[in-house]
Amino acid sequence: MYWTERHVLVCTGSHCIQKGANQVLTRFRFELMRKRLNTRVHLNTCGTIDLCDIGPNFLIYPDNIVYSNVSENDIPDIIRFLEGGPVVERLVTGPTAFAEQNRQRFYAALKERDNAWTENDVDVLAAHHNLDSGWIAEQLRRGFMAKKPDPDSAENRFSMTSKALHRYRLESK
Ligand code: FES
Repeated sequence: MYWTERHVLVCTGSHCIQKGANQVLTRFRFELMRKRLNTRVHLNTCGTIDLCDIGPNFLIYPDNIVYSNVSENDIPDIIRFLEGGPVVERLVTGPTAFAEQNRQRFYAALKERDNAWTENDVDVLAAHHNLDSGWIAEQLRRGFMAKKPDPDSAENRFSMTSKALHRYRLESK
């Protein structure tokens, strides 16, 4: 039934699927039924919402909340929220979220010296923005950053891709 209190969209685009969105969705759907929330919460899957590097992602309306990096372990807290409990702050993202701003600043700095970043430079820049090597590896895996060998040295050089320019709204800056 559509006339529910909330509408939850779970991204099942390819990047989120690779990070476990199907398992998360299965658990979430099961818990919605178990808690009889399915009459109050309308669940749909959706294609990418362009937050591919921080999925799996949930969008919740009318709250206009985005939960990112959702794992199966987070489902009980999301269910509690849907039952009237507190917002799951650790999962919330948006343009003003601390972590999102750090990611955005990282890429803005990367853009300044595009293609001139060594691995060590990128590590230092990431650490400065509270981001770690796991996050960098994820960015490379998801195609937000690229690395290629520098013909003049033995080192790799890092640059951002058009995907990151778009994701972090840096195209015209
Ligand atoms: S695949 Fe889920 S946000 Fe892009």
